[in-house]
Amino acid sequence: MNSLVTDAHKAGKRVGLTSDQIVIRGGKPLEGRIEVRGAKNLATKAMVAALLADTPSTLKDVPNISDVGVVTGMLEAYGVSVTEVAPGELLLDPSNVEKAHFAQIDALAGSSRIPILFCGPLLHRLGEALIPDLGGCRIGDRPIDFHMDALRAFGAIVDKSYEGIRLTAPNGLKGAEIELPYPSVGATEQVLLTAVLAQGVTELKNAAIEPEIMDLIAILQKMGAIISVEPNRVIFIEGVDKLHGYNHRALFDRNEAASWASAALATEGDIFVGGAKQSELMTFLNIFRKAGGAFDIHEDGIRFYHPGGPLKPVVVETDVHPGFMTDWQQPLIVALTKAEGISIVHETVYENRFGFTDALIKMGANIVVHKEGIESVTRRVPRRPLEQAAVITGPTKLHGADIEIPDLRGGFSHLIAALTAEGESTISNVGIISRGYEHFIDKLAMLGADFDYEG
Ligand code: EPU
Repeated sequence: MNSLVTDAHKAGKRVGLTSDQIVIRGGKPLEGRIEVRGAKNLATKAMVAALLADTPSTLKDVPNISDVGVVTGMLEAYGVSVTEVAPGELLLDPSNVEKAHFAQIDALAGSSRIPILFCGPLLHRLGEALIPDLGGCRIGDRPIDFHMDALRAFGAIVDKSYEGIRLTAPNGLKGAEIELPYPSVGATEQVLLTAVLAQGVTELKNAAIEPEIMDLIAILQKMGAIISVEPNRVIFIEGVDKLHGYNHRALFDRNEAASWASAALATEGDIFVGGAKQSELMTFLNIFRKAGGAFDIHEDGIRFYHPGGPLKPVVVETDVHPGFMTDWQQPLIVALTKAEGISIVHETVYENRFGFTDALIKMGANIVVHKEGIESVTRRVPRRPLEQAAVITGPTKLHGADIEIPDLRGGFSHLIAALTAEGESTISNVGIISRGYEHFIDKLAMLGADFDYEG
């Protein structure tokens, strides 16, 4: 499940290119149709949920991305058999769950943050969980204090060792009252995956309510869990004695869909994103339209296009759902370098998610990052101490450059920037993009991009 290019498309031959580099010649609009499948930020968690069951689960529309490969490896290390029974359809059989060797888990977990979500299920199944140092994108501190505090509230004992974190639950896990300091996606999932088999009732306040979380709740309900989502970010979970396997088609990847939408806008192109749905993208669609983009909603997807005329500047604050997702700002910022006027993006979720703008500046963009954030009279989201702001003044013409990808979403924005730029760009570290974008090289080729990639 880990290959970067399954259909082995190569747009050209280039001597001296490493497998982690792509050369892009910009200036061509991206045009055509691509499909998005299950969301990275749901499919990986749904796979972990299968560990809670006593019978096999079937997950459909699983994307071919490296984060899915990491979770597959981890599940297999714990004795869960993972079989691809049809393209994108996984059968996950947890009948023989067993302890894994720490070295094995450590080697597998390196590039992902999902391993932390194994804590609850492993405590239920094996009475012990070992969590290595976590990977994931370097977009800030990314602490795990909410996760550990929640697990302690359930009765887990958390010991830090030189290897990582060891959790045990000598007296079992019991329902708890938990209030998150911030509606963290991961910590909400941690509580859900732990509370479903804990004894008694759990009340979670200030929960995240992203569509991927709702889809995880739907999966857990199919497995036999009792979960009620109440007004004002409150979730009640009544623990049950056992859960059975599920059969589920993963929610589409709205982050990937929004990325291709911004690619269409920035390259003055026209992309039909098959599988994208309006309801999970409403906030994005409003900003996309305000920036001058056009879209048509169809039953089987959404067409995103540049309708002609100048792009318009926008002010955006990233936020938890139903706000504008932090994962949407990076590709959009490339399009905003073409807008006539000053755009402001306030990043309120992570403290360091503008690193990717260095490369855009090198390519000719006029972007100033304010590390302490900036005041804005029009703001909608309460100010967070960690927030930053990027001020983008356009329109600017980008030119090709040699750039290195720092993280997943920033990396995709670098691809888009190179596609819009005049001349040639060499982008290194391109493998990071396969963590979250299925077959992106094939998709670039299908949309008519001009590039060399040796794979
Ligand atoms: N936070 C803490 N302590 C914690 C957990 C989180 O302070 O114990 C803070 C974070 O530092 C951050 C904020 O809470 O400032 C929100 O983090 P959250 O826990 O919501 O993020 P996450 O679960 O680690 C997921 C996605 C991210 C996405 C965010 C926000 C996965 C695997 N990752 O991260 O996706 O940006 O939610 O929606 O689901 C990506 O796909 O590229 C990506 C980074």
